[in-house]
Amino acid sequence: MIDVLLGLQWGDEGKGKIADFLTPQYDIVARFQGGPNAGHSLHFNNKKFVLNTIPSGIFRENCINLIGNGVVADPERLKKEIENIADEGIDIKNNLLISKKTHLILPTHRILDAANEKSKGDKKIGSTLRGIGPTYMDKTGRNGLRMGDILSHDFNTKYNELVQKHLKLIQNLSYSDFNLEESEKPFFEALDFLRTFKLIDSEYYINNELKKGKKILAEGAQGSLLDIDFGSYPFVTSSNTTAGGVCTGLGVSPRSIDKVIGIFKAYCTRVGSGPFPTELNDELGEQIRKNGMEFGATTGRPRRTGWLDLPALNYSVMINGVTELIMMKSDVLSGLENVKICNSYKTSEGISDLLPFDIADKHIEPIYQSYKGWQQDLSKINSYEDLPQEFKNYCNLISEQTNCKLSIISVGPDREETIYRE
Ligand code: IMP
Repeated sequence: MIDVLLGLQWGDEGKGKIADFLTPQYDIVARFQGGPNAGHSLHFNNKKFVLNTIPSGIFRENCINLIGNGVVADPERLKKEIENIADEGIDIKNNLLISKKTHLILPTHRILDAANEKSKGDKKIGSTLRGIGPTYMDKTGRNGLRMGDILSHDFNTKYNELVQKHLKLIQNLSYSDFNLEESEKPFFEALDFLRTFKLIDSEYYINNELKKGKKILAEGAQGSLLDIDFGSYPFVTSSNTTAGGVCTGLGVSPRSIDKVIGIFKAYCTRVGSGPFPTELNDELGEQIRKNGMEFGATTGRPRRTGWLDLPALNYSVMINGVTELIMMKSDVLSGLENVKICNSYKTSEGISDLLPFDIADKHIEPIYQSYKGWQQDLSKINSYEDLPQEFKNYCNLISEQTNCKLSIISVGPDREETIYRE
C-alpha cells in the first residue's frame, strides 16, 4: 500500500523531518511532484541536511528512493545534491531511482522563470526562480524533455530546438540578464553524471513493488494551498501538491492509497506573494519568525507568519481526504499569554468558514477565538501526558474542529523531538 504524506498549508510545514522520522516503516519513499523549489530539512546527529529533489528516505539504509514522473528535476542541482549525500557515505547509486518520465529543467527554463517574474512587476508570484513553472508549461505544452531522453542519440538536437523556442520567448519579454553558455557547461556535465544512474520505467517498478506487498511513502512537496487547482490561484506553484497528484505523479491507482497523513504547523507561514488571511504584520509576527527560524530552506527568504487558519486547514483536509494529522513546531508558540485560532472569515458578503474563489482579490477579516497559552519549553518533553494542559486543549480543539485524528506532535527539529499523541 501507499501512504501519502503532504503539507496542508503553504509549504514549509516540516515534511522532511516527518518523512525521515517515518521512513523506517517504509521500503520505498517516492516524490510525486514539484522539484528543487522544495527544501526538505532533516536534522540528525547534530547535522542539518536540505533535500530539494531527492526523497527524504535517502539517509535510511535499505530504503529505496524514487524521483517520480510527476517531478521536474534540474540536472545540475540534482548532481550537487547527490554528491553531497554521497559524501556522507550513502550508497546513492543503488538507493536512488529516477523515472525516465521525470521532466528536465533546462537552463533556459530558469531564465524564463526570471523573465516572467520580472515582466509581472508588483504582481509577481514570488517564485523560487528554479524554473519550475516554465518546465511544467513545456510539459503540458508538449514540448518538454524528459530524463529518458538523455539516453537518446538525438538528445542534443531536441535540446537545441527547445532552447531556440525559449530564446525567442525570452527576447519577447525583453530580458537579457543571463549568460546561457555559462549555464550550459554544468548542465551537460550533470547529464553525463546522471546517465550513470538508474533511470527507470518507474510506473512498472512501483506497481510491481506494490504487488510484492512493499510499503511505499509518497512524499509531497510544497503545500495544499499552493496546489495549481485548489491553491490560492494565481499565487501557487505549478503542480498538484494534493493527494490526487500521487496517482498521476507516480502512475498508481487511487485504490493503492491507504493513509493520507497531513502535516501542518501550529501557526501559519507563507513565503512569496499571495493571500494570507491570518498574517501578523506586527511584532508578534516577527517574534514567531525569529523563534521558528522561519527563513526559506531553499531561498533563505524570510517567511510571512500568522495564526492558525481553520477554514484553510479544513479545506486541505477535505481536498486530500486526510486520515490523520501531524502538528509541527508547537514549541514555537510557547511563552505566549494567549494563542489565537481563526474560525471563520468576514468579507463584504458576510461571515463564512469556506475559502472564497477570489481569495487573492478579496479583503478578508479573520474572526479569531483566543485561548490561554502555555509557558513551558515543550522541546524538552517526550511524552504526551507531560505536556501542559493548555497545549493539550489546543490539540484537542484542532482535532475536534477538523474531525481528524491528531496523531503526532513535533516539538523541535530533531528526530528525537517527536511525541505520539494517539
Ligand atoms: P515556484 O513553484 O518556484 O514557481 O513558486 C511559486 C510559489 O510557491 C511562490 O510563492 C513560492 O514561494 C512558493 N513555493 C514554491 N515551493 C515552495 C516550497 O517548497 N515551500 C514554500 N513555498 C514554496
